[in-house]
Amino acid sequence: PMKHQFSADLLAWYDRHHRDLPWRISPAAAKRGVKPDPYYIWMSEVMLQQTTVAAVKAYFAKFIARWPTVRDLAEAPNEDVMAAWAGLGYYARARNLKKCAEAVAFQHGGIFPDTEEGLRTLPGIGDYTSAAVAAIAFNRPSAVMDGNVERVISRLFAIEAPLPGSKPQMKAKVAELTPTDRPGDFAQAMMDLGATICTPKRPACALCPFNDACLALASDEPERFPVKAAK
Ligand code: ADE
Repeated sequence: PMKHQFSADLLAWYDRHHRDLPWRISPAAAKRGVKPDPYYIWMSEVMLQQTTVAAVKAYFAKFIARWPTVRDLAEAPNEDVMAAWAGLGYYARARNLKKCAEAVAFQHGGIFPDTEEGLRTLPGIGDYTSAAVAAIAFNRPSAVMDGNVERVISRLFAIEAPLPGSKPQMKAKVAELTPTDRPGDFAQAMMDLGATICTPKRPACALCPFNDACLALASDEPERFPVKAAK
């Protein structure tokens, strides 16, 4: 069926073309049983929310060198965390980062909850972060949605309904396509495809594993998607 074919093709593309990121376990290492550190995945996903991968790399390295575990971060003075965050912007994220570290360290014994629902109870963790950490750190089949994923899905299915109203429809598509095998790599692969091939401007459709199935490309205007509500 479509579901299995899509995830199989996406994972085959990811095996060859995934980005090497400091917090990421490569698909080859994952196959050997290497597990991601939930603390690293959580930290990187919080940093990535309003900041580019290129900018996040140096901050991620700095934070984990200074506070190697969630307990270390929980015990750090607030001012030190805020000072280390300087330059990343959106300072509410840094305050929430500290609060969440304290909740994990002092109310969960230093262990991150391993389900989307459990993660959602932590301070500052919303729909995106709970789904992303459940999928990437714990290989749960959560539907992970961000701007990259919305672009890929809206183009693949040529979704004419505008954002943000189309979000539930898109999330349902992602949930349908998410495999039970390797759901964490699937989530990361959707984001990498959106970031490197299915880009907002001049997407590299010739290199896309789905160029034969993509309805937006068939319409000859892939850049028209995702459609946004008139301002
Ligand atoms: N953007 C945000 N999180 C990401 C991830 N885990 N992989 C690739 N791009 C991302």
